[in-house]
Amino acid sequence: MKEALVIQGLDGKKTLAGSININGAKNAALQAFAMSLLFKDEVILKNVPEIEDVKNMVEILKSLGVKVERKSKGVYAIKTPKKISTNLPEEISKKFRASIVLSGPILARFGSVGFPHPGGCVIGLRPIDVFLNGFEKFGVKIKESENGYLIRSDQKLKGSKIFLRIPSVTGAQTLMMAALLARGKTIIKNAPLEPETKNLADFMNLCGAKIKGAGTSTIEIIGTGPFSADGKVFVTPPDRIEAGSFIILGAVAGNRLEIKNCNPEDFESLLETLKYCGVNIEVSKNKVVVMGNKSDNYNSTDIKTHEYPGFPTDLQAPMTVFLTQAEGEGLIFETIFEGRLNYTSELVRMGADVRLWDPHRATVKGPTPLRGREVESPDIRAGLAFIIAAIIANGESIIHNVHYIDRGYEKIEDRLRKIGADIKRVSI
Ligand code: EPU
Repeated sequence: MKEALVIQGLDGKKTLAGSININGAKNAALQAFAMSLLFKDEVILKNVPEIEDVKNMVEILKSLGVKVERKSKGVYAIKTPKKISTNLPEEISKKFRASIVLSGPILARFGSVGFPHPGGCVIGLRPIDVFLNGFEKFGVKIKESENGYLIRSDQKLKGSKIFLRIPSVTGAQTLMMAALLARGKTIIKNAPLEPETKNLADFMNLCGAKIKGAGTSTIEIIGTGPFSADGKVFVTPPDRIEAGSFIILGAVAGNRLEIKNCNPEDFESLLETLKYCGVNIEVSKNKVVVMGNKSDNYNSTDIKTHEYPGFPTDLQAPMTVFLTQAEGEGLIFETIFEGRLNYTSELVRMGADVRLWDPHRATVKGPTPLRGREVESPDIRAGLAFIIAAIIANGESIIHNVHYIDRGYEKIEDRLRKIGADIKRVSI
C-alpha cells in the first residue's frame, strides 16, 4: 500500500510554534549497528531513531545471524555470535547505501565479506573505490562479479597507510572499523571531519580501542579488537540534519519554534548562514529558538556545500526552500553529489524561481510565494524540503514517495502537527 502526505499550506503566514525534539542521528545510529560487530559481548545502543533505514539495518544483521533485540523504543541490544553469514543479502542491502559500512567489520572479524554492487542512486553515482582501495591496502583479495564483490583475507588484516582519494564519510568509518581488528597500526589520511566519526571513535576508545585523531583529517588506529562492551552503552548523538531542517522550517513558517535536544556546535555553518540572512536565532547549549516574524525580510546568500564543518549537502535542499523566501538571488553550489539538485524542478512547479545551470549549480531568486502542488519526493532530504515548501505554500500539497522521508525521519507528520502544521498521512 502506498502512502502520501497531504499538507494544507499556511499561505506564507508564520504560525508554527512550540517545541520539537530532535531524535538520534540516522548517520550515527546506522554506523553504530555496524560497529557492534566488533564486540564479543552484547552492545546496547540507545536513542536510536525508529526509521526505515534502521529497520532495514536490523533486518540485514538478523539475516546474517546476528542477534538484535529491540528492548524498548530507541534501545537495541546486539550480540554477534562466533560465526555469522558474511554475504549481505542483495535486495535489502541495495535499498540503502549505508549497508556498505557493514563490510569493514565483517571482513576484519570473519575474514571475508560479500556485498552487491551498490549501484547509482538518485543523488549521484556514488562509487566505492575509496572502500576498495582501502581494503586492498589491508592485504585482502577482491573479486568483482556480476553480482557484486567478494573480499577475502587468509589471515588477519594488516594495518596500513591509507590516503582517501575523497574524504568519504562512510568510507573512512568503514576502514576505521576494519583497522580496529587489524594487525598493527593503520593511518587514514584525508579523513572527513564529520562529528559522527568521532562519536564512534569515542565509544570504541571507552571500550579499550586505540584511536587517535578521529574528527581530524588524520586518524591513527592500533588494532586491538575484538572488544568487550562490558555494559557500556552507545548513546546516539542528536541528528544535526534533522535539527537544521527544523530550524529552517522555523525561519520560514515559525512564530517561535524551539528545537530541543540538539547540539548546535554540530551545525554552526547553518546557524551562521541563517543569521547572515537575517534570521533571529537564539542558541544555547542544547537548544535553538527561531523567532520568526511576519515582517521578517530575509536576504539571500550563496551556498556551497562542503565536508564538515562546511555547509552540509544534506541541508542543501531545505536551504534552497529558504532562499525562495529571501530577497535577492542566491547561488546553490552542490559540490558533493552530482544528482542532488534534480528536485528543484518540482519547486519550480510550486512557483519557485530556480534555474538549474548544470548538475551542480542552481540560482534561486526570491522572495516568491509558493503554490500547493502534487510532488514526488526523490530522496530523504529533498522530501523534507518539499514538506517545508508545502507548509509555506498557498493551498494543498500532496507529497508522494513518503517511504523516502520515512527512511530518515521518525513519525514526521505527528511531530509537525504538534507545532501547528496541517499535515496528514493517507493511503493511496
Ligand atoms: N565517493 C567516491 N568514491 C567512494 C566514496 C564516495 O567517489 O568510494 C564520492 C561520492 O560519490 C560523493 C562523495 O564522494 O560524491 C562523498 O560521498 P561520501 O562517501 O562522503 O558519502 P557517504 O558516506 O555515502 C554520508 C551520509 C550521506 C551524506 C554524505 C556526505 C551516511 C549513511 N550517509 O554518505 O547522508 O550526504 O555522507 O556528508 O552517513 C543522507 O543522510 O540523506 C545522506 C545521503
